[in-house]
Amino acid sequence: MHDQYGPIIRISPDEIHVRDPAWYDVLYASNLHARDKYPPTAKMAGTPLAAIFEESLVSRKSISLETSFLAFAGNTIGLYAFNLDFNFIKDAEAAKNWRKTLDSVAFSTVVARQFPWLISSIMTIPRGIVKPLFPDICRLLDAFAKISNSVATHISTRTTAENKPMSEIGRERPLTLFHAIDQSSLSDPEKRADRLLQEGMALLFAGGETVSHSLSHIMFHLLDNPDIYGQIKKELDEATPMGETIPSLHTLERLPWLSASIREGLRLSCPVSARLTQTARTALHYGEWTPISMHPTSVLHDSSIYPEPHKFAPDRWFDAPSQANRCFVPFGKGARMCQGIDLAYAEMFLVVATLVRTFKLELFDTIRERDIDPVRDYFVGFPETGSRGVRVLVKAMD
Ligand code: HEM
Repeated sequence: MHDQYGPIIRISPDEIHVRDPAWYDVLYASNLHARDKYPPTAKMAGTPLAAIFEESLVSRKSISLETSFLAFAGNTIGLYAFNLDFNFIKDAEAAKNWRKTLDSVAFSTVVARQFPWLISSIMTIPRGIVKPLFPDICRLLDAFAKISNSVATHISTRTTAENKPMSEIGRERPLTLFHAIDQSSLSDPEKRADRLLQEGMALLFAGGETVSHSLSHIMFHLLDNPDIYGQIKKELDEATPMGETIPSLHTLERLPWLSASIREGLRLSCPVSARLTQTARTALHYGEWTPISMHPTSVLHDSSIYPEPHKFAPDRWFDAPSQANRCFVPFGKGARMCQGIDLAYAEMFLVVATLVRTFKLELFDTIRERDIDPVRDYFVGFPETGSRGVRVLVKAMD
């Protein structure tokens, strides 16, 4: 549509979308410029990963990378934010069901964007009625109940030692997200159970599909480009201390081919395919219009900034021009950008390094046009219906 009608288009009665990379910084501005989530959008609702790959070496069955990485990301967020073990790595059935749950959450975003009240209304219907009709929604309710119980436990033990300042209890970080919120400078109403539940659910969903999607795409492109894969392997072999499987995260982040490939994989895959809709409290103009959304993908795949934008070319990041760095927005930009960026990077560096160093993998029946390139926007980009995603065979252990 932008090709036909120009850089600014009214896409619904109350939303205007812009495609112009130079304007991304203006809409997604820093804390100095107040920006709010557009209400209908806002209302939408250190794990042994290697074990999954070792098992596949024995069984010789292919592995779905999306499901495995979702299990990893789910377990990580469970332990990190809720001090809960979701057991997705050990229990393959639970991992598959979790994928179905997150897929159904993703599919529901299309409806929830137009009817923001729908999900919360379904949540009030007794489970006995919802379960036979909508089993996937029931899984969502299960996740909701899990986090709800966690909030309830937290609230009932609020006065105990765990809520004292870190220095007093000798911890490096708060035990859970809820402890962190309690210890923050937020006002008391912002620490109520309903707010904790909202934050918990946001984290649970925001940190799963995004990480799994980027990691699957990064591994696809590496296996599809053996020269680049070889560069990373060489870098890792040289940087790994004797007796260790991989170098420290600090070292990994400084390896040129590894970090450029993760950056390039994020640019190409851009997991959040949705337009990011915000409102400004003071007048905001693009020409004579008042826009409220832009797509990160339209910036990340702009050929004037990234020549041959659909090619996986990590070396574009070596001495990249400042505009390419400024327009690197897979995590959004400004005051409302992703809050899990550091955790996401840590997960991606550790997983890619562990897999490249430990296993010989081969792509199994995976075709870029069918299984990678997104053609459906469910907040996260999905490939063609019926695609089984990125699958690999584990050929050997290094
Ligand atoms: C490669 C992985 C990830 C990508 C590409 C990504 C990308 C994004 C994007 C584009 C946004 C929206 C920003 C906006 O509205 O302007 C976002 C929001 C957010 N992300 Fe991430 N994210 C990733 C991983 C994570 C992880 C691991 C966590 C959890 C620790 C997380 C937590 C959040 C939260 C809490 C929000 C805000 C949600 C809200 O305001 O409702 N993200 N992320």
